[in-house]
Amino acid sequence: MTGILENIYKEQAGLLTARQLTGAGTIAWECPSNIALIKYWGKKSGQLPINPSLSFTLSHATTRLSLEYEVIREGRQPEVTYFFEGKPQKPFGDKFRKYLLQVTPFLPFLKSMKLTINTGNSFPHSAGIASSASSFGAMALALCSLEQEICGTLQDSDDFFRKASFLARIGSGSASRSVRGGAQLWGYTPSFPGSSDEAAVEITREIHPVFRDYRDSILVVNSGAKSVSSSAGHRLMEDHGFSRPRVEQARNHLVRLLSVLRAGDQEEFTAIAEQEALTLHALMLSSNPGLILLKPETLRILELIRQFRGETGIMACFTLDAGPNVHVLYPSACQDRMRGFITGQLARYCEHGLMLHDQVGKGPVKIP
Ligand code: PMV
Repeated sequence: MTGILENIYKEQAGLLTARQLTGAGTIAWECPSNIALIKYWGKKSGQLPINPSLSFTLSHATTRLSLEYEVIREGRQPEVTYFFEGKPQKPFGDKFRKYLLQVTPFLPFLKSMKLTINTGNSFPHSAGIASSASSFGAMALALCSLEQEICGTLQDSDDFFRKASFLARIGSGSASRSVRGGAQLWGYTPSFPGSSDEAAVEITREIHPVFRDYRDSILVVNSGAKSVSSSAGHRLMEDHGFSRPRVEQARNHLVRLLSVLRAGDQEEFTAIAEQEALTLHALMLSSNPGLILLKPETLRILELIRQFRGETGIMACFTLDAGPNVHVLYPSACQDRMRGFITGQLARYCEHGLMLHDQVGKGPVKIP
């Protein structure tokens, strides 16, 4: 089944090709990563999610991407050169090349382009912090700026960011939630008008001020590359016995989280965030083959966070990605107490004490 946005963008693509193409230039964006509270785990064909997800966009964990372009010929596909922090890097270069072919039906002018892509991350390359959301977010934003420059389209900012989210999703599902700041909802839910499986919608205005600058300290327990790609993980949900109840649970969590975010209810927020994180790993542990991505240090940190919350009443909670690193979420008003706790009791479980103190951010920035 093709989606509504997909049809619109394919139709518009016919008009984009009809325009005169000239010129060369450089476009650059800095795009943050995001942390999911309701997890996207499992997809349908066309990189569409089996359940809606909701995330906070981060501030400091970012990817900077520059896109040099030159119109060279009437071609069949773009000519792409890729550098990571100034050096060629084949695996990611190949991913971008494949991605650009996938999005060419929506941006047909790419066929006649020579593109040089340079990316770099604000966090250490080997920190085990997911960069696909920030990388594909930055790439999609640069492509929308390119369309704007050479075709004169996407002048309205809602149109611009909707298409950026749609294009980012094709590279990495979670990237659809990185092209704007604050809180983002991706996936259709009857409880939020305008929500869609094809692109994320911003819900920041809906959320209570306490959550708008929530803190996220990322504790790096293991910086190694993931032993299983997220694509392989998503695939394991296809014939997972718990897939149906999981979709049901995620839908219910989403409805509850929306009202919790509006009300500023940190206690319920904590309960939902932790249950989502533990469910994600429970699904991985119970898939076939079962994936064990948690480390002993991860579990120790989770226990200590719960203990600290019980003792102090501070509403700190944890969430996890598909890996062993822990995101500690807490209100900005408790930052000093939390930093003391993290340094004093949790840092010893991090690899070389590595951590990144981040927070909910305002979203990507175009670099002049
Ligand atoms: O976007 P992907 O394919 O890398 O999947 C991301 C999956 C999780 O990070 C585990 C959850 C999420 O919603 O971000």
